[in-house]
Amino acid sequence: MDMLVVQGGRPLSGAVSVDGSKNATLPIMAATLLTDGPVRLRGVPALADVDTMARLLRSLGADVIRSGSQMVIDPRPASGIVAEYDLVRRMRAGVCVLGPLLARCGTAQVSLPGGCNIGHRPIDLHLRGLAALGADIRICSGYVVAEAGTLTGARIDLTGPQGSSVTATCNVMSAAVAARGETVILGAAQEPEVVCLGRFLNDCGAKIGGLGSPIVTVDGVERLATADVDIGPDRIEAATLAVSAALTRSRIRIDNAPVSQMDAVLSRLADMGVDCFAGDDGLTVDARHGRLRPVNLVTSPYPGIPTDTQAQFTALLTTVPGTSVVTDRVFPERFMHVSELIRMGARIRRAGNSAVIEGVPHLSGAPLMASDLRASAALLLAAVSAEGDSQIRRIYHLDRGYVRLEEKLNRLGATIQRCQDIPARSVSENTRSGE
Ligand code: UD1
Repeated sequence: MDMLVVQGGRPLSGAVSVDGSKNATLPIMAATLLTDGPVRLRGVPALADVDTMARLLRSLGADVIRSGSQMVIDPRPASGIVAEYDLVRRMRAGVCVLGPLLARCGTAQVSLPGGCNIGHRPIDLHLRGLAALGADIRICSGYVVAEAGTLTGARIDLTGPQGSSVTATCNVMSAAVAARGETVILGAAQEPEVVCLGRFLNDCGAKIGGLGSPIVTVDGVERLATADVDIGPDRIEAATLAVSAALTRSRIRIDNAPVSQMDAVLSRLADMGVDCFAGDDGLTVDARHGRLRPVNLVTSPYPGIPTDTQAQFTALLTTVPGTSVVTDRVFPERFMHVSELIRMGARIRRAGNSAVIEGVPHLSGAPLMASDLRASAALLLAAVSAEGDSQIRRIYHLDRGYVRLEEKLNRLGATIQRCQDIPARSVSENTRSGE
């Protein structure tokens, strides 16, 4: 198992580019099951989660061939209907095959994803939406067993206690494409990755309207053809890199940052006094003047501040003088990184779904344990900015969602080494998903 050894305290400079979006890639890979021919995906990031989804599709019988950042998925040989626990437990996005499988085969058995390091994560909205389309759903031996003779369009409200659900919207929208008649999804997720999926399905012949709004309409079609798809840059990776510049009080350029999807993140950085300029050559983030202000920050579904950037912002605010409050409304328990940041000298107090942060002059390096994907990124950024050395273990979480983040940071001037750790029993057994 790999670990990262970080010599902290060096400023960053230069330019970096962002890989393809993980959360756009995964539901599109799942939705290829709805098409009737090979789908070519370009700009696919080299991530552990993408490999897991490829394994899942292969386990269903699809051909998946990857060459560099291109992937060709041919769903025609796929006849399987079971998404096994061993794959879904590694990555919750495995549940995205539920809607496409149901639409394709009239039946699906998908493992319930189980517990998760970022809090309780039910899939009741997915099931409610598919049931409204006419599926008969039951839970049997840890699996969702869904059956539907014919799916029929319906009016479905997918608003959950924390707002919309990204992958529930993906699942219901995908199944509705093959339903008879019109489906109206109220409380649909507006995330750019949902829009990306909807556009791909439309390119294949689906009739989806209202993408990017809370009301999505789907007119069912007989069959879907195939289409190529370009995966855009990852807005969460871009935000993570922007925070790295702020945390190290540096100036960097992020060449292909999807700036139009980053309003909330950039305006929060601006509130803190970080200069962000978007131009033809990308996004420049400049915090060299070093005088940052504390802020209160609340995560919410898009277009709000993404929960997937909460840990990184929390790390950043630990060294901003004054009191900041970070509240996660999407995943109220997602604060596993806090105790590790405290071990680096941060002053943070938990209060319900908030972290109250008193800025300290600097963090100190420490041995650290990553708990989930974005927490790993937050700890890595904190370690890069800290005085002294850190060792970060369990970085398989990081590799699920970032393409060699340490190499990108090294190209910007950080000193991070990836090396082999001696696997401890408790470490190797913890492979639960974190996002
Ligand atoms: C997706 C993203 C993940 C991100 C999250 C929130 C992918 C592959 N993953 O995850 O990176 O952190 O959106 O932006 O795109 N909920 C319910 N019932 C449900 C489903 C969700 O109550 O059936 C709740 C969740 O517990 C959470 C909130 O709704 O509080 C939002 O979760 P959701 O958008 O579903 O997250 P994912 O789609 O799993």
